[in-house]
Amino acid sequence: MAEARGGRVPIHTLLQSTPDGREVRVHGWVRTRRDSKAATFVELNDGSCLANLQVVFDVAQPTLALPDDATTGASLIVHGRLVESPAKGQPVELQAERFELVGGSTPEFPLQKKRHGFEYLRTIAHLRLRSNTFGAVARVRNALYFAIHEYFQTRGFMHVPAPMITANDAEGAGEMFTVTTLDPAHPPLVGGQVDWSQDFFGRKASLTVSGQLEAEAFAHVFHDVYSFAATFRAENSNTSRHAAEFLMCEPEMAFADLQDNIRLGEDFIKTVLAMVRERCPEDMTFFDQRIEPGLLAKLDHVMESPFEILSYTEAVRLLEASGETFEFPVAWGHDLQSEHERYLTEKQIGRPVFVVDYPRDIKAFYMRRNDDGRTVAAMDMLVPGIGEIIGGSQREERLDVLEASLRERGMGVEDYGWYLDLRRFGSVPHAGFGVGFERLLMYITGLTNIRDALAFPRTPGHVEF
Ligand code: 4AD
Ligand code: MG
Repeated sequence: MAEARGGRVPIHTLLQSTPDGREVRVHGWVRTRRDSKAATFVELNDGSCLANLQVVFDVAQPTLALPDDATTGASLIVHGRLVESPAKGQPVELQAERFELVGGSTPEFPLQKKRHGFEYLRTIAHLRLRSNTFGAVARVRNALYFAIHEYFQTRGFMHVPAPMITANDAEGAGEMFTVTTLDPAHPPLVGGQVDWSQDFFGRKASLTVSGQLEAEAFAHVFHDVYSFAATFRAENSNTSRHAAEFLMCEPEMAFADLQDNIRLGEDFIKTVLAMVRERCPEDMTFFDQRIEPGLLAKLDHVMESPFEILSYTEAVRLLEASGETFEFPVAWGHDLQSEHERYLTEKQIGRPVFVVDYPRDIKAFYMRRNDDGRTVAAMDMLVPGIGEIIGGSQREERLDVLEASLRERGMGVEDYGWYLDLRRFGSVPHAGFGVGFERLLMYITGLTNIRDALAFPRTPGHVEF
């Protein structure tokens, strides 16, 4: 297929083939251009791989004189012969025979040879894709996306659609974006409040924070399912790990408990890491050399060692005994902050860890109450450098306990009627988790800011592009 479009051959393929002098055609964008007396050298990139193809234009031939605007950023089609390259570090080069300048460029093209900081590159997100780093991020992201589907598809999990527009707050945390067609300047009012019954859906609707609740409905038919879709959070936390729009992959298993969930989480992480590492060797080496020195050794270590399991209560004990001074206090009943999570996984354990059995007051309404009455069957997976990348639990399958949990939190039992039905008719123990796709991508690439793991990040105050 790749060769079908006008006989174009991807540079990735050419760089691996024998320099036998055959004629080929490439399409791409100029990364650099260097003019010498005898020839013009162009480094051409077509997105198929990190490496560029060197194209040599013999200036003695008038038809091979490149115009001035065939410069960094310009797009070219080149026909030429694939020959052995005399230059070091590249097996082949293209001896140009004909070319077509498709779209010229100018010296104002912002990605000139010098290296740019990540902060600046975020302001040109539409062009940073053409840099080495963001090209590699895009390819690894694609490989990870495919690996996740492959992981679940080959293990009997069915992909299920969870709507993005919803009337349920799946996490009960009130961090939802409202979806409305009402005129913000003149909304209809009743008793001084917005009358949502006059809105498009006849009630207040929002963008989903998680597809879990619908995935649970599917799991009560198909056993093992996963939703993999965009989720939205109106959390006003301007951190390097929070985005307002991100992808979440959420497997859900029926007839399963917390132990099954932990086993799945560990196997899932190890397997997709291995797949991406194997399928993107060049890009992964680039991240190892340029983004996080030691990255590949870190990932090997993760794939080889069993993940630790720690109860929340033990985690609090370790933190209290650590002698560290934390910004947020540590005490049983307080949520773990990212500084605590990172201390545990980085300093205390040195590899991924599942923290389980959190106090029920700090976790979502749907988590299964443990026999101690104080904790729930929750599991968060924490990794060094980032903190939480997976959040999940066994779900409360007992109708009366779930109703009590909603009431305790002041959540309307009537709003969750359909969800409670799953416990009324054929309820089964079930469990699942959500993995933040971009956080996992950060972990795999060594990126330290989620704004670089999303091509066009949406964060508080930012919705450009
Ligand atoms: O822990 P969370 O909130 O869990 C849920 O939403 C469950 N309903 C999932 C489930 O059990 N099916 O989110 C799951 C993961 C987090 O561990 C984190 O990796 C990611 O989603 N995440 C975010 N990623 C980027 N930006 C944000 N604002 C995120 N919030 C959560
Ligand atoms: Mg969480």
